[in-house]
Amino acid sequence: MSGFTIAVDGPAASGKGTIAVKLGALYGYPVLDSGLLYRAVGVRLLESGGDLSDEVAATAVARTLDPAELERPEVRTRAAGEAASRVAIFTPVRQVLREFQIAFARREPGAVVDGRDIGTVIAPWAPAKVFVTASTEVRAERRWKQLLLQDETISFDDILADIRVRDHRDTARADSPMAMASDAVLLDTSEMTIDGAFDAARRIVETARARWEQSLG
Ligand code: C5P
Repeated sequence: MSGFTIAVDGPAASGKGTIAVKLGALYGYPVLDSGLLYRAVGVRLLESGGDLSDEVAATAVARTLDPAELERPEVRTRAAGEAASRVAIFTPVRQVLREFQIAFARREPGAVVDGRDIGTVIAPWAPAKVFVTASTEVRAERRWKQLLLQDETISFDDILADIRVRDHRDTARADSPMAMASDAVLLDTSEMTIDGAFDAARRIVETARARWEQSLG
């Protein structure tokens, strides 16, 4: 038996992280940003002098990952995002990180998990699934504004290029992580404010919650 699991998936900088945090606060549920797991693996691999194309080394790092590493400021940088998307293509890395995510998603009375494959691979049974998206340009602008706080020399064009590369890595192969579950609700936030996007997500989740409660009898 699991609680009310809310899966929030979508591409980089779609707004899914903000929506997930706000949903967690609304329901009083813990929130896992699963991207931080891949970021932490990438960061530690780089710090130990490892190579981001070394699947064996990346898997070894994933095996010894300490959840405290998710709190490190280093995992929130642009370089960490890039490193994350490189190690995330390795199936053994994904397998090692899966158990932690599944255990989190099953927490009672509920949990919010955001990522790419939460509704499809980690918690296909989740009663509420939202797939958050936005146009490439809008996502690049949001991420650029965030990263400007860390480094004011970063250009919009560089971030747009980053987002395109990341989207490609996350979707290019048949076994790529990003996929919308057939029972997820698509939420395009391109034209929405943060409050508007959260409100739309909240309504989707409330509908799912009513259906879930009914199914419990
Ligand atoms: O969401 P965030 O930008 O932090 O994710 C960093 C990278 O980690 C993504 O570009 C993606 O390659 C990978 N990722 C993943 N599966 C997830 C979450 C993130 O493959 N559930």
